[in-house]
Amino acid sequence: MSKPKLTVAVLGPGGVGGLIGALLARAGHRVICLAGEQTVAVLRQDGLRVDSGQYGAFTTAAEADIKLREPVDALFVTVKRTALAEALDRTPAEVVGAAMVVPLLNGIDHLAVLRERFPSGRVVAGTVRVEATRTSPGRIAHTSPFAHLELAAPVEEFAELLRQAGLGVTVREDENAMLWDKLAFLAAFALLTTRHQADAGAVRSRHRPELLAVLNEIAAVARAADAPVTAEGLLSFFDRVPETMKSSMQRDADADRPLELDAIGGAVLRAGAAHGIATPAIARLVAKVAQSAERVA
Ligand SMILES: NC(=O)c1ccc[n+]([C@@H]2O[C@H](COP(=O)([O-])OP(=O)(O)OC[C@H]3O[C@@H](n4cnc5c(N)ncnc54)[C@H](OP(=O)(O)O)[C@@H]3O)[C@@H](O)[C@H]2O)c1
Repeated sequence: MSKPKLTVAVLGPGGVGGLIGALLARAGHRVICLAGEQTVAVLRQDGLRVDSGQYGAFTTAAEADIKLREPVDALFVTVKRTALAEALDRTPAEVVGAAMVVPLLNGIDHLAVLRERFPSGRVVAGTVRVEATRTSPGRIAHTSPFAHLELAAPVEEFAELLRQAGLGVTVREDENAMLWDKLAFLAAFALLTTRHQADAGAVRSRHRPELLAVLNEIAAVARAADAPVTAEGLLSFFDRVPETMKSSMQRDADADRPLELDAIGGAVLRAGAAHGIATPAIARLVAKVAQSAERVA
């Protein structure tokens, strides 16, 4: 029997959404990209183009529209956090209906926004580990040798269809632990690399005392939020990432694009405040990164 095919909408066909949309379209699923007029025009004419060491270079046709107009099986939400509120106007709740809504944004707080807008039980928390860049509308450079999603259970059947399209997928039982696993490392990595305009190697050698202070605070906040994160585990991971690795926040800062500072640093500060955990090192970092971003704005 042939595999069931899905109709999937992708809100924000950029680095993450464009790659996933293209892989699903290549696997025979129906993909509808939701974006602004200019990107929609390019997608309708040229499709989605992926250049990837892992998946090869390929182009797929994909439907595109400025707004969702019909029911879908699943909606991937893959805009940056800074664009979320505006982008959601493209996905009216009455049209999304009971579709599965799968956000892959970094951070945590966007889940509450989506669960308020769509049926709460249909919003499946997800994270993605990948390095994928939208080089121009509809063109995606996938530069990591992996593209791995984590999704909160129960979504096994959906996960299997994604795997068949070529994505790595792990289904996690504990949504909170899954989200904090991602945020805990990312917050330290993004804030320190952006603040010091340094890659991972420079951060861990030249700014080690600050790195340790930040990891201790993040681990304390995550544990208070019931996630089994340790500072030792975070440090050991930080020490193993490639030394030239840069964060996307740093790349956004270099390009004067809006930063997901509130979604990443702000989320940790808010969770710390909610649980009574002091976070002075993270607060200093967030303030410094915000100051630099304001200076260029
Ligand atoms: N890229 C990665 O490697 C990576 C890895 C892990 C996690 N993440 C997370 O994934 C999320 C998405 O990041 P990304 O790098 O994929 O972002 P991105 O490449 O900037 O893509 C965002 C997409 O959203 C679209 N968009 C912006 N405003 C919109 C609106 N109002 N309506 C509809 N579409 C809109 C953009 O359209 P245009 O094409 O028209 O500009 C773009 O295609 C972020 O939270 C990021 O932190 C990214």
